[in-house]
Amino acid sequence: MKRIPKLLFAWRRSMALLVTGGAGFIGSHFIRLFLKKQRSDGKVINLDKLTYSGNLENLRDVEQSEGGKRYFLVRGDVCDASLVASLFSGSHPIFQSPALKLETPAGCSIHAVNHLAAESHVDRSIQDASDFYRTNVEGTRILVESARKFWGLGASGTAQNRFRYVQVSTDEVYGSLEPRQPRFTEESPLKPNSPYAASKAAADLTVLAYAHTYGLPALVTRCGNNYGPYQHPEKFIPLFITNAIEERLLPLYGDGRQVRDWIHVTDHCRALLEVLGRGEPGEVYNIGASEERSNLAVAESILQRLGKSRDLIRQVADRAGHDRRYALDAGKLESRLGWNAEQSFAEGLESTVGWYQENEAWWKRIKNAEFWQYYQKAYKFV
Ligand code: NAD
Ligand code: TYD
Repeated sequence: MKRIPKLLFAWRRSMALLVTGGAGFIGSHFIRLFLKKQRSDGKVINLDKLTYSGNLENLRDVEQSEGGKRYFLVRGDVCDASLVASLFSGSHPIFQSPALKLETPAGCSIHAVNHLAAESHVDRSIQDASDFYRTNVEGTRILVESARKFWGLGASGTAQNRFRYVQVSTDEVYGSLEPRQPRFTEESPLKPNSPYAASKAAADLTVLAYAHTYGLPALVTRCGNNYGPYQHPEKFIPLFITNAIEERLLPLYGDGRQVRDWIHVTDHCRALLEVLGRGEPGEVYNIGASEERSNLAVAESILQRLGKSRDLIRQVADRAGHDRRYALDAGKLESRLGWNAEQSFAEGLESTVGWYQENEAWWKRIKNAEFWQYYQKAYKFV
């Protein structure tokens, strides 16, 4: 029988969760799941700058659902220190809404943070890394600094059981594995290779430093490659599905033998909820589904599911500094928090291909003139 681990952090009606980047791919799934699972407890404030990758359409169904009454959007930048401080202190105008009436022990209006806002695409970080360091590193520092200040956490960490901060990091902070090397554990050294991965590693270590130095009740998660509905079509799986639907070429980098460890986005979000509620502050948790696949194998599965020719695959120049393999050992999350992935890659890919087939309007609005401009710069063959 599955052991249910102890709940260390519980929600009440008058508590608020700050989700950053909630209009993005993973953030929108996380908000949907949180509002569904928590039923009536806990309000969600989504702080999102709505960059090219933020999309309010991802949350339409949430806004219109029963849970939508507990959901509040603040359009803004995590690097805007006074805006972030106004959310923690409760002085932001959004708190005048009667629907957002909260308990504010210790004078802080935010009870937990799930920090997802980031510049997230490796290829863009290779073209220009400036926004990556600004948002991913400085944005994270501003958030943890505000959290520390408003929860009045001295070295003793007095408010530990009434506050949580979850940093959503990535397996890319560990760097690259050779084909037969053992999978990354939480003890593996951090050796990030791309500008994106380096910015995420800096953020990840900043959060751990705040947990260590100030007793901030923070947790770090490091997840593998996500896929599923609402993922921006610049990313590998949605790019290949949507290009194949349109009979466009699929730009496969190098020999296509690079390996990624894939996880369905809802399994990732289920793990984030477990970490928030049951994880030990100061700890790191890998999140992975043990579904290693080469890029070539994924491309072939997509084409086969769509009934399209293998000839659509076009091998193109490799990504600069391309990591060969990622693979995660998620044993700690499984044994300590009782989490297990529910979706196999085969089932998840099948339903994801179906979703992109049924939601052409969603991705066609994103694959607009600006997108094709980026695409032409990134993929010289077009
Ligand atoms: P995404 O690009 O789809 O979404 C990012 C969101 O952050 C967007 O809504 C964007 O508008 C918002 N944002 C960007 N800069 C901001 C700023 N300065 N202030 C406020 N909001 C800002 O990304 P995603 O794939 O959903 O990834 C979410 C998080 O999960 C990121 O931190 C990413 O590093 C991490 N992660 C992603 C994966 C993956 O496979 N996608 C895997 C592991 C970890
Ligand atoms: P991506 O979705 O960009 O995720 P990450 O680089 O963060 O792992 O890419 C997944 C894999 O697919 C990666 O090995 C790069 C490869 N890839 C291609 O071969 N062609 C492409 O056009 C893209 C976007 C990715």
